[in-house]
Amino acid sequence: MSASTALKPVLPPDIRAMKGRQPVVVLTAYTTPVARLVDGHCDVVLVGDSLGMVLHGLPSTLGVTMEMMILHGRAVVRGTQKAMPVIDMPFGSYEESPEQAFRNASRLMAETGAPAVKLEGGVHMAETIAFLSRRGVPVMAHVGLTPQSVNTFGGYKVVGRGAEAEKLMADAQAIEAAGAFSVVLEKVPAGLAGRITAALAIPTIGIGAGVDCDGQVLVVDDMLGLFTDFRPKFVKRYAELGREADAAIAAYAAEVRARSFPAPEHAFPDELPVKK
Ligand code: KIV
Repeated sequence: MSASTALKPVLPPDIRAMKGRQPVVVLTAYTTPVARLVDGHCDVVLVGDSLGMVLHGLPSTLGVTMEMMILHGRAVVRGTQKAMPVIDMPFGSYEESPEQAFRNASRLMAETGAPAVKLEGGVHMAETIAFLSRRGVPVMAHVGLTPQSVNTFGGYKVVGRGAEAEKLMADAQAIEAAGAFSVVLEKVPAGLAGRITAALAIPTIGIGAGVDCDGQVLVVDDMLGLFTDFRPKFVKRYAELGREADAAIAAYAAEVRARSFPAPEHAFPDELPVKK
C-alpha cells in the first residue's frame, strides 16, 4: 500500500518510512482542481516555484514571491485530502540566515496549512535545514540542478559529472545529517543518483535522475502536455492536453463566429413550459 492510500493524510515520517519499501510518487499542483486530480494517485503534491514559469509566464523561478506561494499553497491544501502538500520556499526567502528561513517557512506552513517545505541547496544550507528541522519544520531538500541558481550554473545543465559527483554526494549526506526527511535530485546522472540513493537513509526523489531514485517527481503541466515552452529530455508526455485544448478553443471560436453556439439547449426560454 502506498502512503497515499493510507486512511490518514500523509506526513513527513510516512514518506521517510517508504525508503526501500515503496516508490514515492510526486507531482506538482498549483490549483485546487489539479490538486484534487493528483491527490488520489500521489504521495506528495509539490507546490513548486515552477509555478512562476508555468502559470505566471516568468522567465525563471527567481521572481516568485512568498505571496504567490501562499496563494497557490492554500489552493492546493484545499484540494488535497490524502497526499502531503509540500510548499517550495521562494528565492530570497531563506538563504540569508536560519532565522530568516524559519520566519518564512513557519509563515508558509501557518498560512497554507501544509506540513512541510522544500528548499534548494546542499552543504551550504545544512545549518538552515538543521535549524528548521529542530523547530518543527520538516524539510524536503533539493540538490543537483537547483533552478533558483540558474544564473550561477549558466543554464539548466546536468549537475554531477566528473569532479562534481563527489560534491553532490557530500551535499546529499549533509542534508540527511541535518534532518531533511527527503531530497529531490534534479538533472543528476543516473549512476550517481543510484549511488546517492544507496548511501542515504532518506528517500531520494528524482527528476531527470534515472530510475534508481526512491521516488519520482514531474511538473504536472509538463507531463500532461499543457506547458510546452520547454521540453526537457526527462519529461515523458502522458497526455497532449495542450493540443486538445487548442482544438476545443478553435471549435468554440468557429461556432461563435458561425452563430451555431449557443444552441437552444444552452439558452433559457422566455416562458417556462406549462406542466400538465
Ligand atoms: O518547482 C518545482 O516544480 C520543483 C520540481 C521540479 C522538483 O522544484
